[in-house]
Amino acid sequence: MLLGILILHASRSRVSNLYGCLPKLSQSGQLPEGGRNMLSKAKAPFLGKVVLVTGSGSGIGRATALAFGQAGAFVMLNGRKEEKLQHTREQFAQQGLNVDYCVADVQYYEHCQALVKSTIERFGRLDVVIANASSSQRSEFIRTDPAIFRHVLESNILSAAYIAHAALPSLVESQGSLVLVSSLAGLIGLPTSAAYSAGKMALTALAQSLRTEVAATGVHVGIAYVGFTRNDPDKRVFDAQGRLVPVAPRESRLQQTQEEVARAIVRMVYRRQSRTVLSSLGKLLWVINALSPTLAERGVRWSYRRFPHMYHG
Ligand SMILES: NC(=O)c1ccc[n+]([C@@H]2O[C@H](COP(=O)([O-])OP(=O)(O)OC[C@H]3O[C@@H](n4cnc5c(N)ncnc54)[C@H](OP(=O)(O)O)[C@@H]3O)[C@@H](O)[C@H]2O)c1
Repeated sequence: MLLGILILHASRSRVSNLYGCLPKLSQSGQLPEGGRNMLSKAKAPFLGKVVLVTGSGSGIGRATALAFGQAGAFVMLNGRKEEKLQHTREQFAQQGLNVDYCVADVQYYEHCQALVKSTIERFGRLDVVIANASSSQRSEFIRTDPAIFRHVLESNILSAAYIAHAALPSLVESQGSLVLVSSLAGLIGLPTSAAYSAGKMALTALAQSLRTEVAATGVHVGIAYVGFTRNDPDKRVFDAQGRLVPVAPRESRLQQTQEEVARAIVRMVYRRQSRTVLSSLGKLLWVINALSPTLAERGVRWSYRRFPHMYHG
């Protein structure tokens, strides 16, 4: 409990560094001389576009940022830990990509405003926002500290809603794209992930409401239901008391690579798709759930009994 409160307090105290990302933007990161000219439109469908990926210092966000960069985009990385972002930016810049970073905790609206402002100051416009950042949890509902429940729930819904709200005027201007990164837990509630599932399901409502509201503006709103994906070795999730613990091991044949997920997200933006469900397991679950939610729930219950290690941290 105490640990949970300390983590939340540390996170909130970062509000005071709100505009910290502005002076930290790199002055370098431009493509080498002639670099952009060497990219053809066919090989670089996002040439000249500006893409912001939240939570892109590691994991799927990092792979997605890389894929957009390789498709010709200017990329703004984001996260809360500057060291990770610096390292990622250096690696991408070495590949000739045009990339920068902005430290911001997207669970706070003011941070999201600063992040959007920084992106436009740095690159001049904003065409694509990938709302990827989130925290996750592995603990049964009844054992979960309510403060952790709230933190995980907010990190999944508010971080997406806030960046969407802050970025929308710029996306209307560019007739750009907003993609919300959801999960199989956004299709059906998964055990040991009640707060995460509730947050991811809320993203479906956000995407639907927003899509209808902005239909006349030319803005594309998509939602990607990502399946089990190979994690960075140092990925951590919250346990019941708010300690950060390694994620449960999953069979690798059930998992996609981060690069596969990144490619699907880039494709989704390119095709301006409303939704995509990733992985064979995800597609199967999606179809069964659409036909019979009871059957889908029974399947999840069976897998929880049969493979509990897949669900526990
Ligand atoms: N991995 C999977 O199997 C899987 C499956 C389905 C869906 N997804 C979804 O895919 C997305 C990425 O997952 P992942 O596995 O790549 O997670 P990850 O490895 O834990 O990466 C999450 C990234 O988000 C950043 N982040 C977290 N909270 C943030 C905040 N409030 N503000 C700014 N940055 C924040 C983290 O960096 P800092 O700590 O530096 O902030 C980190 O770089 C998430 O939305 C997740 O729910 C993942």
